[in-house]
Amino acid sequence: HDSFAYLNGELCIEGLSVDEIADKVPTPFYCYSASTIRNAYTLLSDRLRPTGASICFAVKANSNISVLRLLSELESGMDIVSGGELERALAAGVPPSKIVFSGVGKTRAEITRALGVGIHQINVESRAELDVIRDVARIMNCRAPIVFRVNPDVDAQTHAKISTGKKGDKFGIAIEEIRELYAKAAESPELDLQGLAVHIGSQLLNLSPYRTAYVRLASLVKKLRSDGLPVRRLDLGGGLGIRYDFGVGPNVSEYAGIIQDTVTSLGCELTVEPGRWLVGPAGMLVTEVLYLKETGDTVTAIVDAAMNDLMRPSLYGAIHPVLPLQSSDDRAQCAYQIVGPVCETSDVFGSYGDLPPLHSGTRVAFGCAGAYGASMASSYNSRDLIAEVLVDGGRFRVIRRRQTIDDLLPLEKPTPWSTINSC
Ligand code: LLP
Repeated sequence: HDSFAYLNGELCIEGLSVDEIADKVPTPFYCYSASTIRNAYTLLSDRLRPTGASICFAVKANSNISVLRLLSELESGMDIVSGGELERALAAGVPPSKIVFSGVGKTRAEITRALGVGIHQINVESRAELDVIRDVARIMNCRAPIVFRVNPDVDAQTHAKISTGKKGDKFGIAIEEIRELYAKAAESPELDLQGLAVHIGSQLLNLSPYRTAYVRLASLVKKLRSDGLPVRRLDLGGGLGIRYDFGVGPNVSEYAGIIQDTVTSLGCELTVEPGRWLVGPAGMLVTEVLYLKETGDTVTAIVDAAMNDLMRPSLYGAIHPVLPLQSSDDRAQCAYQIVGPVCETSDVFGSYGDLPPLHSGTRVAFGCAGAYGASMASSYNSRDLIAEVLVDGGRFRVIRRRQTIDDLLPLEKPTPWSTINSC
């Protein structure tokens, strides 16, 4: 990624020294490169053009409003999974006609709001949810644009915690149940039945599960059409993986080829929902070494970022690369275990063998942290949610200020006691 480079020995994002940004914005903070996001979006949309598929960014990967606005300005739609994500997309100026709503547990209030703003599509994940959508549409006197999310029973060959398309996973409706359900839904005046969706999992590095899933989807479309049912749209899900070691990830031309081979000829309106691939490589988590200590045979560096800021290592065993902010010529090749201050044994970023000597006050960055970093952060241990910074065109700005305890304490002012009158 040419937006990240060592210039005169300093790690720079789009030509700006990360260390100098950290002189102005206290660590830890997330830092994103706008041009890296734009380049990724442009590359993917170029490769997808022959397939006719359009992109709905999976907001959960990075839900900062400035990031959403940046993608929206490139004509991206949005894939949301909650009322909160809907409000973020709307705040970023995304037209509701470009928003699709996924997720297994949409509440009546969320469905009402989505239909109220004129959402493009709701991806239905169960019969019970379908009943609620129908009911809400009837009360609102509108037609709900829906697709059914199919569980195609495909092994995405990814981490067990982020695989979603196997039989028994909580996602989607079993493929063998769709035909009957689709026919029934087609008769409801409250439902504007548009088609089908699949999403088989996240962080796919091997593309062949997509082919399997899309082939199953295409054969289902043919069956539905032979039943005389219309299928106009297919939502092909997200999941394109990235390499966390800066290696070469999945080839998006090959991904587009799979779409072309399997579903393009059906003549449906196609969408994909990538999250990680668009924003993951564009972000880093900048942190500072607080202390060094010897733990057994290893030297442990305790940094000011922790598992609550970046959950992926402790939750999935993910390893994010460490980037020293200064390149050292005499690559001293020191080994460190890097950990955060949170009181959990799993608050470990990893063990790294090839770092320059670290000292108290040395800053480092964890790379590939633009996706599922800030958006998954919590304030565990009463640590403030950290700032997010965007670099664009030789400038930077804070796009989310760091939370302070004064933001949080007022939420915990108790209400007056209430009683329940029992008989
Ligand atoms: N569409 C749906 C319906 C999804 O559930 C997801 C992700 C996506 C699209 C986007 O997937 P992506 O292109 O980003 O792989 N927290 C985990 C990832 C969880 C993904 C959940 N669903 C991680 O940090 O690896």
